[in-house]
Amino acid sequence: MKGVILAGGLGTRLYPLTKITNKHLLPIFKKPMIYYPLETLVDAGIKDIMIVTGGNHAGDFLRLLGNGHEFGLKGINYAYQEKEGGIAQALGLAEYFADGEKVVVILGDNIIEKSIKNEVKAFAGQTDGARVLIKDVSNPERFGVVEFDGDRIKNIAEKPKDPKTNFVVTGIYMYDKDIFAIIKGLKPSGRGELEITDVNNDYIRRGKLSYSRLDGWWTDAGTFGSLLRANNLIAQRDGGSGDDES
Ligand code: G1P
Repeated sequence: MKGVILAGGLGTRLYPLTKITNKHLLPIFKKPMIYYPLETLVDAGIKDIMIVTGGNHAGDFLRLLGNGHEFGLKGINYAYQEKEGGIAQALGLAEYFADGEKVVVILGDNIIEKSIKNEVKAFAGQTDGARVLIKDVSNPERFGVVEFDGDRIKNIAEKPKDPKTNFVVTGIYMYDKDIFAIIKGLKPSGRGELEITDVNNDYIRRGKLSYSRLDGWWTDAGTFGSLLRANNLIAQRDGGSGDDES
C-alpha cells in the first residue's frame, strides 16, 4: 500500500502567514505541520510516500524533508501541482506513483491524536472499494458531512448550511485502484475545484464505501482557530509548555 500527502494550495485563509511560506510548513508546537501526517503514515507501516505540493514555496519541502531519512524512509517522492484545482485534482497527480496499488491519502493539515494502524489494517483486508475515517464534531458545517441509512453512509454533503448529522469525513482516505478513473470523470464544483467529496459519493453509489470512526481527537489546521487548536492539542499530547528550561 502506498501513501500520499496532499500539501498544495495557497492557504489563503491563513494570510498573511502563508504569503511567505506554504501552510504545511507552518509550526505546530515543535515541528512543521507536514511532520505530523508524515509520522501518521510511517507509524501505520506505510513507507512508500509521495508528497503533492504546489505554489511558490514547494522547494522548501525538499530542503526540510530531503530523502526522509529522519522518518526512517529510504526516500520521498514529490509531485508539483501547477494550478490550484482541488484535493481530488492534486491526488490525480499521484496516479503513476500508485501504479495500480491501493493508496492511503492524508491531507497535510490534518492532525490526529492516535494511530491509524488498525484502520489501515482493516482497509488492507478489504478486497476493493474505499474507506473513510469519520469523526463527530461540534462544527460540521465546515466539513464533508455524513448522512446515514442505518449503519451505512448514504451521502456526504460538502460544507452544507444545514448539516444532517455531526459526523464528518476527516482528511484521511483510503482508495483502491479505481480512484484515478473516478477523478478523471469529475466535473469542477461551484468553487471551481475537483472535490474529494464527489469521489467519495461515487464510491457510495457503487456500494463500495466503508468507514471507521476515528479514535482520539482530530483537527485540521487551515484556519486561525484550527491552527491554534492544533498547536494546543499537540502541546498537551507531546508534553509541557515547550519551554526547555521549565
Ligand atoms: C476538505 C474536504 C472536506 C473534509 C476536510 C477535512 O475541506 O473538502 O470534505 O471534511 O477537508 O479536513 P477543506 O480543506 O476544503 O476545507
